[in-house]
Amino acid sequence: SSNAAASGLTITITAGPTREPLDPVRYLSNHSSGKMGYALAAAAASRGARVRLISGPVALDTPPGVERIDVESAIEMCEAVRRAAADSDIFIGCAAVADYRAEQISEHKLKKTTDDDTLTLRLVKNPDIIAEIAACEPRPLMIGFAAETRDLETYARDKLIRKNLDMIVANDVGQAGLGFGAERNAALLLWREDQRRDGSSAPGRLELPAQSKATLAETIIDTALARFAARAPS
Ligand code: PMT
Repeated sequence: SSNAAASGLTITITAGPTREPLDPVRYLSNHSSGKMGYALAAAAASRGARVRLISGPVALDTPPGVERIDVESAIEMCEAVRRAAADSDIFIGCAAVADYRAEQISEHKLKKTTDDDTLTLRLVKNPDIIAEIAACEPRPLMIGFAAETRDLETYARDKLIRKNLDMIVANDVGQAGLGFGAERNAALLLWREDQRRDGSSAPGRLELPAQSKATLAETIIDTALARFAARAPS
């Protein structure tokens, strides 16, 4: 596809993990490296889009031409996304957002007690960032990810509908060498509908085999641009 396929469009992408603090020195997090989200940002910029990358803590360089906004917790990511989403044409949620955070963040370092062999943490639900933006009107074309370890297509299609998204990128994160932290990934792209020649419509589906995150990201961006072009003017 042409290098200017996304010229004039603003694409906001989230990437990496979130960190949910427990006390001044500890946090809950996950193994997201940010590689998939950064590859998407690089691919979108190479297509000529204005790209905002809202990033959790990762050890990656910002791709050329990309505006990067650093955040740590899910609440911080949610606030940054709210500010960026309003004037975005396409939103892609690739971040591995923690579903829960500590109900209380201890002001001082939690102490080990001598009388107790267990410690109970009470967690509360974080906001569902992508579902919140998808509920706004007008809204960007909304693309989510689904990280699953079984029944990939069933769970991903359920997330597509439940979170009111336009497209979902499902990845099986139980496969060695793919997904979290890896250089390569495979994905199943699902979207709501494709127009058939006879005027009827069918659910969209594209299977992308294991490949580098860079080439996978290019196909995801090109599919997103095609969905954006196919979207009925609102
Ligand atoms: O970063 P890498 O090491 O390259 O790994 C890439 C990846 C495996 C992290 C990536 O490909 C991926 O799958 N990202 C989504 C991970 C995830 O949290 O999936 P989920 O199925 O739990 O969430 C579904 C969707 O809701 C995602 O778009 C997520 O960003 C979004 N979400 C989830 C929870 C929440 N509180 N707010 C959200 O917006």
